[in-house]
Amino acid sequence: MIKSLNLGILISGKGSNMEAILKAIRKKRIPIKPAVVISNNPDAKGLEVAKKLGVPTEIIPSKGFTGTRWEYDQLIIKCLEKYSVTPKTGLICLAGFMRIISPEFIEKYKNKILNIHPALLPSFPGLHAQKQALDYGVKYSGCTVHFVDSGVDTGPIILQEIVPVKDGDTEETLSKRILAKEHIAYAKAVKLVAEGKVKAINMASKNQGH
Ligand code: GAR
Repeated sequence: MIKSLNLGILISGKGSNMEAILKAIRKKRIPIKPAVVISNNPDAKGLEVAKKLGVPTEIIPSKGFTGTRWEYDQLIIKCLEKYSVTPKTGLICLAGFMRIISPEFIEKYKNKILNIHPALLPSFPGLHAQKQALDYGVKYSGCTVHFVDSGVDTGPIILQEIVPVKDGDTEETLSKRILAKEHIAYAKAVKLVAEGKVKAINMASKNQGH
């Protein structure tokens, strides 16, 4: 058994994915230590949820921050280090963290940052993924958990869950059904990584037509 990692979760809002992960850890389903929840938004509802679950929270406001993206990310890194979430000892989950993170941050924590996206990537990256899926007319959408690389919603895929699109679905109804699957998918993916059962490898040749 590998030594358990320290988990840092980055949120901006409701934090329902964060909650699903923290509850799975509490039920001993995932061998990882919930070290800290960090929000860029002081009003994020997820902060209260994390506190109730006994996990330390930190706020690093991004609104009004006048420095560069990397300067902001260095504040996050400093905070993660304070809770021993380092590239060697930690894992980071982006859980509705509505900021693009800098290439320097990604490089420092290479293959140690996971993200969840509410679509079947590589389809519908970016904002309003559920609306993009509806507008396109796909019959199935879902969610994707992946390692973060320097692209937007790209990086090696860990797992996906499929959600059928129903006649009459609105952005709201589809988002709700996808979110329920996200909670299952994210906890499963963190478990796989925490147990050392999946690893990102250099996929540089993947996109070269082979
Ligand atoms: C989730 O649907 C997540 O997939 C999405 O934000 C929501 C956060 O909900 N993330 C993205 O769109 C990132 N590209 P939560 O705060 O309740 O976990």
